[in-house]
Amino acid sequence: MSSTLQTSLQRTAACGELRIEHAGQPATLAGWVNNYRDHGTGLVFIDLRDHTGLTQLVFDKEDAPAGIVEAADKLRAEDVIAVKGKIRKRDGGPNPKLPTGEIELVVEQLEVLAKADTPPFQPGDEQNLPGEELRLRHRYLDLRRPKMQHVLRTRHRVTKVARDFFDALGFIEVETPNLCRSTPEGARDFLVPSRLQPGEFYALPQSPQLFKQILMVAGADRYMQICRCFRDEDPRADRQAEFTQIDLEMAFVDREQVLETMEAFARTLWKEVLGVEVPKFQRMTWQEAMDRFGSDRPDLRYGLELVDISDLAAKTDFKVFAQALEKNPGSGHPSTRDGGVVKAFRVPGGAEKLTRKLTDGYAEFVKQFGAGGAPVTKVTAEGFETGIARFIEPITAELKERMGLEPGDTVIFGADGYNTCSKALGELRQKVAKDLDLIGKDQWAFLWVVDFPMFEYDEATKRYYALHHPFTAPRADQAETLLSAKPEDKQTLLGVLSDGYDMVVNGSEIGGGSIRIHRRDVQQKVFQLLGLGEEEAKAKFGFLLDALRYGAPPHGGIAFGLDRLVMHLAGTENIRDVIAFPKTQTGADLMTEAPSGVDEAQLKDLHIRVVEAEVKPVEAKKLSANPT
Ligand code: AMO
Repeated sequence: MSSTLQTSLQRTAACGELRIEHAGQPATLAGWVNNYRDHGTGLVFIDLRDHTGLTQLVFDKEDAPAGIVEAADKLRAEDVIAVKGKIRKRDGGPNPKLPTGEIELVVEQLEVLAKADTPPFQPGDEQNLPGEELRLRHRYLDLRRPKMQHVLRTRHRVTKVARDFFDALGFIEVETPNLCRSTPEGARDFLVPSRLQPGEFYALPQSPQLFKQILMVAGADRYMQICRCFRDEDPRADRQAEFTQIDLEMAFVDREQVLETMEAFARTLWKEVLGVEVPKFQRMTWQEAMDRFGSDRPDLRYGLELVDISDLAAKTDFKVFAQALEKNPGSGHPSTRDGGVVKAFRVPGGAEKLTRKLTDGYAEFVKQFGAGGAPVTKVTAEGFETGIARFIEPITAELKERMGLEPGDTVIFGADGYNTCSKALGELRQKVAKDLDLIGKDQWAFLWVVDFPMFEYDEATKRYYALHHPFTAPRADQAETLLSAKPEDKQTLLGVLSDGYDMVVNGSEIGGGSIRIHRRDVQQKVFQLLGLGEEEAKAKFGFLLDALRYGAPPHGGIAFGLDRLVMHLAGTENIRDVIAFPKTQTGADLMTEAPSGVDEAQLKDLHIRVVEAEVKPVEAKKLSANPT
């Protein structure tokens, strides 16, 4: 039977839909041949697949109309067919693995809609998938996999719930431009050459931050947009150069109102998509998160909390501790974050579970975060044994009490400047949790991290960076301190807290936002502290400063990472799984082979000549540690 250009058979059901109560009825199905079995018993079986599931088709050599079984015999995996027949209770007994497992369709009519060449892999065979590269090259096959179909549909569901949720609260969706002015702040911009203005460039937006703020000045009141953002950074497991945000902004609100609205959204999402009731979020200041978990996005699904034992460590003769504690002694203000500390965390039952090989590996592991090592010891009924046991003997009782140690525990230490020590132990804490399988399935730990410092200071470049972005307001009670501080008042400035917040789930930042600066003098002051001269600020952000001149309401908002939300809701660890057509580590789309060379005529139109020699990149002026 040759393939037809037009099907005369119209689907009456999807492949995952039919059940035992349909037995005896006729049905027409269409889909892809998942697999083919001829047991030599006079029956040919085919599993027909579409995005809803599989139905077993039976071609009966005795009863079927002439030619059908011969045609079925020629079918191969991934051929596209339509079939008409009668639903019956399965002859060979039910297949409990399939929702349609109690029935089969006895085929009376077959139409081959498209033949398929032997595919490089079988989308229906989840156990034998090839490497990701081959799958990305043939993404149309990869997306046929039930898992991927589930992700596509989950993603659709998330955007639908978002639009409905915010629409009901009076938010309106407004599109902002994709061809923007380049104002590199955090990440590198993707540039687009202008044909009409030779030598000039647009940038693709890193986020619609300034447009949404200007929409507030323009009276839009409540804005939302599901928007594409572009940041020319190296991709990671949870980061793509081209990603999507659910972007939101509200006028005449304070932090509490924004947090309440956005928390309600996240809970609605989890309820609608997973049927999970999320309890009220925990809240933690940035300082507390760093102190207790060594991370500004702590995973609260397990303990392993960091404990500051600097005062006890000072009583020992251990050189490693002493050297750490000598770092910037008396740097005073905790927010300078560079004074030496000794911290430790307790691994319950670690003496048995953590092998020497693992703990040796931990010492190496923390080196990538700048720490010197990760000394360990085991707790016994009497004191400590192995590792640094003899050095901490003088503080046995105090350490046991401070950390609640029990015989059989392992203690892991870190000693360094506050930042390095906290971050290294924070990373190690996550590794230990994974190694010991401490993270339960379907556990959800939601959290707001609030009260971020406004600035961090980089010794190498000798300047301040905004921890959120340069448009984030100081907390209302800190504005006067900020306005009166001079750039050289480092202690004061590093202590100023912002009205920024991050939404964190299971150790992953799924959203970030802030109350914005709506006063021109405050915005100018922040630019000045970030090293932007008046002229430069005017050239880059004149439109914002102008807008703030003409009546800006107090406003604030957030942007959720849509891809990350879907990763959690669909249960996948790789951001490429939740994007229909993602890019690889090197920024390539393997299916279309982008990026690619272009022809001379195109370049000429754009006034561009490609210079083969290595071009030295001009260091873009960064205004914040994070892109907007
Ligand atoms: P921020 O840069 O924190 O804030 O981004 C908001 C959220 O977007 C997600 N995200 C990413 N997801 C995938 N790949 C990336 N490269 C990537 N970068 C960020 C994260 C993050 O929490 N304009 C501000 C928001 C605001 O202040 O309202 C902004 O873009 O989940």
